[in-house]
Amino acid sequence: MAANCSSLTPSPMALSGGSATSSATPRLLSLSPTTTARPSSLSFHFLSSSSSVAASLKCLKLSHQKRTKLYSSGGDFGAVVTTKCFASNPDQLKSAREDIKELLKTTYCHPIMVRLGWHDAGTYNKNIEEWPQRGGANGSLRFEVEQKHAANAGLVNALKLLQPIKDKYATITYADLFQLASATAIEEAGGPKIPMKYGRVDVSTPDQCPEEGRLPDAGPPSPASHLRDVFYRMGLNDKEIVALSGAHTLGRSRPERSGWGKPETKYTKEGPGAPGGQSWTEKWLKFDNSYFKDIKERRDEDLLVLPTDAALFDDPSFKVFAEKYAEDEKAFFDDYAEAHAKLSNLGAKFDPTEGFSINDEPAAAAVPEKFVAAKYSSGKRELSDNMKQKIRAEYEAVGGSPDKPLQSNYFLNIIIVIAVLALLTSLLGN
Ligand code: HEM
Repeated sequence: MAANCSSLTPSPMALSGGSATSSATPRLLSLSPTTTARPSSLSFHFLSSSSSVAASLKCLKLSHQKRTKLYSSGGDFGAVVTTKCFASNPDQLKSAREDIKELLKTTYCHPIMVRLGWHDAGTYNKNIEEWPQRGGANGSLRFEVEQKHAANAGLVNALKLLQPIKDKYATITYADLFQLASATAIEEAGGPKIPMKYGRVDVSTPDQCPEEGRLPDAGPPSPASHLRDVFYRMGLNDKEIVALSGAHTLGRSRPERSGWGKPETKYTKEGPGAPGGQSWTEKWLKFDNSYFKDIKERRDEDLLVLPTDAALFDDPSFKVFAEKYAEDEKAFFDDYAEAHAKLSNLGAKFDPTEGFSINDEPAAAAVPEKFVAAKYSSGKRELSDNMKQKIRAEYEAVGGSPDKPLQSNYFLNIIIVIAVLALLTSLLGN
């Protein structure tokens, strides 16, 4: 399995004493399962090949390793265990993202990267519990058997573009790379920032690929109910179906691949990238809400509307969202970003189980609340969150906020001044 490099670094004492480590050649022990555990529940095996040792040594250097102690029933085992690397190395993912940006700039492959990520994830079946039988974002689309599924026609080109990046970064998985390429393509095309997480584990053999037929058809007899059959099976809802369909704001359909679309149009005959095909939108390398506007208006024969695209304005439930996205790009971006992140996680097995972000800020970080509490602060140390909450509550009780000074009540001030003047006058009069 790619980049799965659980390893145990024996202490010098452990190396010299035990039979398992008495060989003249220093060896690394690998340990599974990979969480902190007692030796009785562990199975040890030696990494004999030099490449495995090299991989483990590389892994040992990685900054994201978690280190923990291994305990025997008799106490300290005398060894520090490096529990394991995550499925992908975060630093390598970040570097790969820069390479993907470069690739996008030079080849204009944004659309096919988005389609690649979607087709790897979109095989998910929520009714199957076992991984990888349930399908989803597990890198299975790297295998020829799945690339040959009719729905995946042409995606081999996306694989070819990404392979050099995969070769360059040994400790990232295909599953992560596909989703990274897709999310980066959306963002680089001007779309929303997608709250992605990483750490997807790859399937390891072609027989773990899903069977053909899990992805949607563009021209089924009843498009709306077909879309629901397929996307509900993935655990997605009507809003998510419509938002995700908005990815067709990018790219083109090519008759020689899918059978849909014109060989070329005025918008595609000169590229950029390989010329030809029929796009859904005029500016098919820019991510915006023009897909919804163009389908609604049907203003140009040169723009594609698949039967499943048309269903978004024909079906009453889909239509609510399609109309909204045609009017309000921000609403589309917000819903798209959320739905894309959800799609990218479908069926995935994460290592670590919660996944990890490669953005400097946390995946879905809330904007930090501005807080000014100079009056209450000693100036030497930050107030606790509890104290901030109490102060905020006090302010709010009198209709104010710690972020801005309380509004003066001029009327009350005037009455007080009049009252004081009246009191003084009466005192002086007496
Ligand atoms: C709703 C059901 C969907 C159907 C029936 C459908 C169908 C298709 C078809 C027929 C093509 C043309 C492929 C070719 O000839 O090269 C295509 C392309 C594309 N699809 Fe979809 N799709 C669907 C949903 C999605 C979703 C959910 C996404 C992404 C989130 C997506 C992203 C794309 C992109 C970006 C392209 C352009 C690829 C390129 O230019 O190379 N599609 N789709």
